[in-house]
Amino acid sequence: MFEPTILSIDTSCDETSAAVTSGRRVLSNVISSQVNLHKKYGGVYPALAKRAHLERIDAVVNEAFKRAGRLLPLSAVAVTQGPGLAIALEVGIKKAKEISLEHNLPLISVNHMEGHIYSTLSQNKNGNPKREVVFPTLCLLVSGGHTQLVFMKAHGEFELIGETLDDACGEALDKAAKILKLGYPGGPIIERLSQRGKPVFPFGRPLKERTDLNFSYSGLKTQFLYLVESLNEKDFGKNIANLAASFQEAAFEQLTRKTSFAIKIYQPKTLLCGGGVIANQYLRSLLRKLGKKEKVPVFFPPTNKLIGDNAAMIGVAAYFKFQRKEFSNPESLDRLPRLSF
Ligand code: KG4
Ligand code: ZN
Repeated sequence: MFEPTILSIDTSCDETSAAVTSGRRVLSNVISSQVNLHKKYGGVYPALAKRAHLERIDAVVNEAFKRAGRLLPLSAVAVTQGPGLAIALEVGIKKAKEISLEHNLPLISVNHMEGHIYSTLSQNKNGNPKREVVFPTLCLLVSGGHTQLVFMKAHGEFELIGETLDDACGEALDKAAKILKLGYPGGPIIERLSQRGKPVFPFGRPLKERTDLNFSYSGLKTQFLYLVESLNEKDFGKNIANLAASFQEAAFEQLTRKTSFAIKIYQPKTLLCGGGVIANQYLRSLLRKLGKKEKVPVFFPPTNKLIGDNAAMIGVAAYFKFQRKEFSNPESLDRLPRLSF
């Protein structure tokens, strides 16, 4: 079977990334992280991100070709159109257009969140893992900017069935770490700290009375702030791991509760889980348990590099768009910072 070779680019946030994929197989996936640049601001500083993308994009693309060990012919160029930071997206789109026009290649624009879904179907050079998605499928996307449940009846058919009404789950974990005066990004720090603690502090269950599939994290964050402020220095010091574990437990309880609702309503045959927070081993164990109980196979991205923002996931999503001949016009393609399903 002909499998198109695609160069893909993602500059949606604070990673400059380029990859070469062939079908679902990842031949290279170069990620230049800017985390150290943004650390001192406790979040992503857009103008700095844009400058760093501009400085790095050419080298990252060249490195992606080099590591793939394969020169042209390419079949297409793919790029993240949104959602993301407007001035950051712009850098990747400009580069993709240049390559597309110079080599007369079709251009494929990809929704970044669609990329997080397709990260679960990525394979290594040898075509492993061989897993196949069975439709209908449910997707749980948990990142720094999004918390979403998406229902898919087929490739390319996305129905947004739940999302956060306020903060995203990853954003809430980042804020909780800030409240504990720890570093950025907070998710991995909260995970590590939680392993030494117990969820002894009770939290309200957000949206407890609601049977819809939406999420809310701003209330948890406020409760956490008040809780931390109510402790004296000694109790705070003694309980820091317990505080992290309690917040993490509450944040993930909501994810599994809503995903469980969605499984009951939509009866999916597979559950695909993507986005930066899916790196969390405890969250994975909860989702695996849920899948077992509901008899739904659960897929995570097969490697850590495919979990956070990366271009290979954009290339894999683009492969399915290539098969449907969903191409964009390189003269007119524009960034869509608020693009949704
Ligand atoms: O998908 P992603 O890399 O970027 C966005 O598109 O937002 O997600 C980043 C988010 C951050 O909020 C970060 O704290 C969180 O993912 N994260 C984690 C872990 N690793 C990254 N959250 C919990 N546990 C982790 N191990
Ligand atoms: Zn992302």
